[in-house]
Amino acid sequence: MDFEKTIIITGGAGFIGSHVVKLFVKKYPRYKIINLDKLTYAGNLANLKDVENMPNYQFIKADICDYENIKKIISTNNVNGIIHLAAESHVDRSIVDPFTFARTNVMGTLSLLQAARDFWEPTGWSDNCRFYHISTDEVYGALELNRPEGDPSASECGGGPFGDKFFTEDTRYNPHSPYSAAKASSDHFVRAYHDTYGMPTIVTNCSNNYGPFQFPEKLIPLFINNIRHRKPLPVYGKGENVRDWLYVEDHARAIDVIFHKGVIGETYNIGGFNEWKNIDLIKVLIKVTDRLLGRPEGADDDLITYVTDRKGHDMRYAIDSTKLKDELGWEPSLQFEEGIEKTVRWYLDNQDWLDEVTSGDYLKYYERMYSK
Ligand code: NAD
Ligand code: DAU
Repeated sequence: MDFEKTIIITGGAGFIGSHVVKLFVKKYPRYKIINLDKLTYAGNLANLKDVENMPNYQFIKADICDYENIKKIISTNNVNGIIHLAAESHVDRSIVDPFTFARTNVMGTLSLLQAARDFWEPTGWSDNCRFYHISTDEVYGALELNRPEGDPSASECGGGPFGDKFFTEDTRYNPHSPYSAAKASSDHFVRAYHDTYGMPTIVTNCSNNYGPFQFPEKLIPLFINNIRHRKPLPVYGKGENVRDWLYVEDHARAIDVIFHKGVIGETYNIGGFNEWKNIDLIKVLIKVTDRLLGRPEGADDDLITYVTDRKGHDMRYAIDSTKLKDELGWEPSLQFEEGIEKTVRWYLDNQDWLDEVTSGDYLKYYERMYSK
């Protein structure tokens, strides 16, 4: 079959990547979608059951740091689009093991850029080719919490309910964690390939995602699982940090719009204008989970356990995604109440997935499948 485009999606077995792969495979039967993933602890092919037998889908197990192999994969498949999500993504892990984050997020991105350049530059960067790099709002650092009451009408005076500023595309980079420092560095390399070699690149910086298939080391799936099993909920510090939450399928839709209509060389912020203090979000999680489990209201409030704060814990993230709305017409489709209900229900209905992921059984499956 002749395909209109061949796109590599890196990190397609992870949380956000698997949603992006599924969206593209189903929506674009004329595109060949290659999911390129190393299958680290965070990658899980069970996330892709919906599409694994579709004729326009292919999985390739590969490490983005393996430049020679990536170069071969790009040229053999005549790839003309790359959507790059593969990364080490958990801040707590980066605090313990920064080298792995530098290797994957910085060197991995660089090797992918160079491999794409080797293939695309000799053709004069044909109209069709594009390198789309998925980044995070964490590269901008932390915003102040200077509206501590969370006044929703305060946004009329600029900023959001918890502070008078947002991150915009012009906010200066100021990363604090090894994770965000590595992501910031990768963003700079992508822009450098655009400015130096003329590579058609786009960068987007998104806020916190939530939804099905997120590895249960991140706040929302970890806490839903703990509530179900009546395990303590470790709240870092006082639980006052603020995050801006976006349903993962809305992020995937934004990636689709930006991949097709985004202007080369541009940056777009993606967010839901949906700020929550951790402790308030955790109370909602307890309430919804208990209700869906048929437990009385307040039954699990005592699971909340305040623990030592994360080192260098960023106080507040809040994205201004006005540019994306005004220029490309994207807006989040889901209200938070609806998104969180869907999410809690999914984790409660998919205990097998959670058990497999937390037991490491799926890693053994890969070892058998890919052992030489
Ligand atoms: P994730 O940890 O769930 O998935 C990462 C995927 O990358 C996994 O499938 C893993 O196997 C793969 N991977 C890791 N190292 C690799 C390597 N060397 N070669 C090939 N594959 C490798 O991550 P996620 O939460 O889905 O995040 C995806 C991307 O989106 C990341 O770049 C992250 O920085 C960015 N992002 C995430 C969020 C969020 O809230 N989760 C928000 C904004 C941006
Ligand atoms: O902002 C985008 C970023 O969001 C992404 O780039 C990252 O890949 C993603 O992991 C996420 O980073 P956070 O550090 O914000 O997410 P996490 O789920 O780890 O934590 C959310 C908040 O909850 C944060 O303030 C820390 C706090 N927390 C987290 C955990 C895991 C707790 O209080 N207890 C916990 O056990």
